[in-house]
Amino acid sequence: MPIFYGKVALVEFLNSVKSTNSTIGFVPTMGALHQGHLSLMQQSLAENQHTVVSIFVNPTQFNNAEDLEKYPRTLEEDTKKITQLDPNIIIYAPTVDDIYEGKVTSQDFDFDGLENQMEGKFRPGHFNGVGTIVKRLFEIVSPDNAYFGEKDFQQLQIVKKMVSKNHLNVKIIGCNIFRETNGLAMSSRNERLSAEEREKASIIYQTLLEAKEKFKTQDCNEVKNWVNTIFESNDIFDLEYFEIADEETLIPCEKQSKDKNYRAFIAVFVNNIRLIDTISLK
Ligand code: PAF
Repeated sequence: MPIFYGKVALVEFLNSVKSTNSTIGFVPTMGALHQGHLSLMQQSLAENQHTVVSIFVNPTQFNNAEDLEKYPRTLEEDTKKITQLDPNIIIYAPTVDDIYEGKVTSQDFDFDGLENQMEGKFRPGHFNGVGTIVKRLFEIVSPDNAYFGEKDFQQLQIVKKMVSKNHLNVKIIGCNIFRETNGLAMSSRNERLSAEEREKASIIYQTLLEAKEKFKTQDCNEVKNWVNTIFESNDIFDLEYFEIADEETLIPCEKQSKDKNYRAFIAVFVNNIRLIDTISLK
């Protein structure tokens, strides 16, 4: 299994394996891999001759020092999982210095307002950090296709915007959310929940499903109010936001319009652990 800790050796290796007709698929991750990440890798393996997976806990996208410190770092287990899936996957697990070269700061991006909604309101600077690392990784790996989970739908739209504004030659592919059996969206943070919290967290997806049903006959604000009341009466989960927004612009819905595709977004805290989820309302 080829594993690289520095970009120079990785680029040299990729230049040597890439032949005229082969494509590189890329799955950027922050490690603590779960089935959701592995499904992105499977898709990349099915669609490309070579797959690169990066494992890098990116400091500039954390707006909370404690969250960065507590983020699980499990490189050994991660590499085992990847090798079991396919020993030919190329792993890039750089140091902070290999990426940031002594200057750990974010670039300032203009994502045409996508960055100001939802996650952007609650996590200042987060998307500049994401834009910075994804652009940097694309420059190093030069992938043909890159795979992102739809759980972070706002991130997915932001990456697409960054690619189009910078004229980068990479196709961004959004992949379905992988869920636990009770419907909870897979996330590295789920490991930090107690067994009881993890079971009860099914309320998040159940609420999204019911909201989708209600949205067929009710307007945006009615559905939003209903979700607020659900969480007001819950003593384990604190709702940070529930929003219904246009999928393209992420502008919140005030009144349903037939020619728009809407999506519901939710962020919930349980015991200081932040969980997000989303569902298409089509
Ligand atoms: O979604 C993530 O895990 C991260 O935001 C990403 C895309 C790997 C960038 O650090």
